[in-house]
Amino acid sequence: MTLLDPRPELWKLPRYQPGRSGEVATGVPPALLASNENVWGPSPAAIQAVQEAAALMHRYPDPGGEQLTARLAERHRLDPEQILLGDGADQLIRLLALAYVAPGQTAVIPRPSFQAYSLAITVAGGLSVPVALTADGAVDPHRLSQAVSPVTRLVFVCTPNNPTGPAVAAADVREMVQRMTGRPVLTVVDEAYQEFVDPLDTFTSSLALVRANLPVVVLRTFSKAYGLAGLRIGWAAAPKPVIDALATVREPFSVNRLALAAAEAALGDTVHLENVVNATRRARRRFLDQVADQRLIGFESQANFVTLRGGAAGPQVAAAFEHQGVMVRATEPFGLARHIRVTMGTDSELERFWAAWAAVDDTLPFPRRSV
Ligand SMILES: Cc1ncc(COP(=O)(O)O)c(C=O)c1O
Repeated sequence: MTLLDPRPELWKLPRYQPGRSGEVATGVPPALLASNENVWGPSPAAIQAVQEAAALMHRYPDPGGEQLTARLAERHRLDPEQILLGDGADQLIRLLALAYVAPGQTAVIPRPSFQAYSLAITVAGGLSVPVALTADGAVDPHRLSQAVSPVTRLVFVCTPNNPTGPAVAAADVREMVQRMTGRPVLTVVDEAYQEFVDPLDTFTSSLALVRANLPVVVLRTFSKAYGLAGLRIGWAAAPKPVIDALATVREPFSVNRLALAAAEAALGDTVHLENVVNATRRARRRFLDQVADQRLIGFESQANFVTLRGGAAGPQVAAAFEHQGVMVRATEPFGLARHIRVTMGTDSELERFWAAWAAVDDTLPFPRRSV
């Protein structure tokens, strides 16, 4: 070990690999379907709010984001004391790990799922206990609770699950939480893609569990349906003692002034949100129909992406798509080999995807379902 080495558990940790973006590609702008961004863009009201807030960038932002917190509380029938804003949901995942998982303790995480969970747990000095999904790619609350041990502090549920896409009914999450009554375990329900689920009455949000004061944290983000990924803002809903713990660990001023202004404006533009959600669901339905027509193997997604089984390792298939000017995401870093994840784009972006797919399929044939 040298002076320059970090803590041993960080030695072999790979850096987070983001989906590749057009900024690193050359020539014709590629179709950017690798990062589950909102391809329709933000609300015009959010853009205007950022322009107005920019004149005050020499002033620190409101550290508590009180105005936005109050709006979120009102919208979701929560108490403002049950909400904490974060520099993206990513920061809130990090704060949860730092506040709740000490060295020697564990977090139960679904796998394949969002890689930020295990990374955050490792950084905190804890251990992740991975639990397999159901055969159709959904998080299985029953299996998660079975993996809980006396040293478990957190259980993560990702619904809809990234990178597969199926959602879990909140009733199943509630049942899992109730089964763990008496254990010192906090359940974290990551609902980054909740706005896209359909029908909503089946896949209701776990915010109801926070309202019922159960030991549950719900994570939401403005990066997806609200189209503010570039500004970094998300929020957590949880019982007040959890919010207090996270607020203590969080850096002051971690949510910037422009993000606060944009999020408040975006929250107010319900028409834009509805248009984005409807367009995404429409694109997903058409995409899944084409997957079925071609007899490809994909997951029934409830999010703004669809994941398909490829004909080779994910990075090789993704590179072949990139060669055709279409960015898709290999899912290996999430723990899912030989699949690619495709963000639901505009009609023309998805036409480019299918044209590229035909070319890729010639050299790396995608597996087909037998009839
Ligand atoms: C499941 C899930 N949770 C959280 C995040 C992070 O969201 P944010 O952009 O708010 O940090 C993502 C981003 O892709 C995600 O897929």
